[in-house]
Amino acid sequence: MSRHLDNIPAHGGVLVNRIVNSEQKEVFLSKAETLPRISLDERTFSDLVMIAIGGFSPLTGFMGSQDYQTVVTDMRLANGLPWSIPITLSVSEETAQPLNEGSLIRLDDATGRMVGILELAEKYHYDKVKEATHVYRTDEDKHPGVKVVYEQGEVNLAGDIWLLERDPHPQFPLYQIDPTVSRQMFREKGWQTVVGFQTRNPIHRAHEYIQKCALETVDGLFLHPLVGATKEDDIPADVRMRCYEIILEHYYPKDRVILAINPAAMRYAGPREAIFHAIVRKNYGCTHFIVGRDHAGVGDYYGTYDAQYIFDEFEPGELGITPMKFEHAFYCTISKGMATTKTSPSKPEQRIHLSGTKVREMLRRGELPPPEFSRPEVAAELARAMHT
Ligand code: ADX
Repeated sequence: MSRHLDNIPAHGGVLVNRIVNSEQKEVFLSKAETLPRISLDERTFSDLVMIAIGGFSPLTGFMGSQDYQTVVTDMRLANGLPWSIPITLSVSEETAQPLNEGSLIRLDDATGRMVGILELAEKYHYDKVKEATHVYRTDEDKHPGVKVVYEQGEVNLAGDIWLLERDPHPQFPLYQIDPTVSRQMFREKGWQTVVGFQTRNPIHRAHEYIQKCALETVDGLFLHPLVGATKEDDIPADVRMRCYEIILEHYYPKDRVILAINPAAMRYAGPREAIFHAIVRKNYGCTHFIVGRDHAGVGDYYGTYDAQYIFDEFEPGELGITPMKFEHAFYCTISKGMATTKTSPSKPEQRIHLSGTKVREMLRRGELPPPEFSRPEVAAELARAMHT
């Protein structure tokens, strides 16, 4: 008998599914030409998809003013459930003005194809600086997440959504594993505990080290690189995914790891985003979630471990997923292996750690990051990608 246990419930109790069936789709399509249209940018389109596939459960649409306000100020939905990032559809005053509450709105992707429907429940104004200071802990427009907020429209459109179709991902169809499927896969593998890993950078040995430390105490590892919108100088998702394929081939046990894409956009909201990332992985069926140094951070906006401390602002068990917190990992030249200050006797100068910026500079100069930082096969792939 398999030692199957039900995975943990989705956030709020029910895994949301807002993908229409063929009948509903026909109805929506028959109205398509008569409905007002909103064109979604990359980030909002990925939010639509994440809501529809249940990655953002319990959300069934873009947030109304009540949820928005409590999320911004208290990290909770209006019903008290933890939620740390506003999920909103913002448009200009001119776009919002003719739209009537209660009506259906056609949602198009950037190419003009109809991809979804919004049942407009509410239009409301919001305070961008307030959102920035609460969610991003800064009002500076230099911050890439804040910049997006400042550049978006003045009015939020709220209401339930439907996705017309779940298309295969154009770049990574094999790794498009939606929450219903990941949950099923975990069950089939008999995994009772699964640790989720968020990442937006090419895998390096500190990542590998904390993933494997975590995997020593749970049944499975769910590698979940974010492939939605990122800032311009981040390494493109296809390169990062190839690095993952390569490292999995050489250095990981095949039966204990699942690689899947997270279609969401990056917010760079540090601590707030760590909570959000954990909730999303809970929806995919993970019981644990890795939070290392400066999780989802950018520049010097957040303290190294702020994204870990923020978990203490919730009651134990309230989030329904357990954070696994790791200190800054590096290669220790004394013990000749990966370590942290918890396990290494080294002085700072006896440690090898490179920032993402340093690695990019090295690659640009045609140098490979050293084997203490990157597995050679991964370094070679990064170099190849940099020069093609
Ligand atoms: S993130 O924006 O997705 O957080 P990144 O892909 O670099 O960026 O990090 C993925 C995860 O690994 C995060 O939990 C981060 O805190 C952790 N991490 C990255 N580098 C290190 C390191 N040297 N030591 C410990 N944790 C790290």
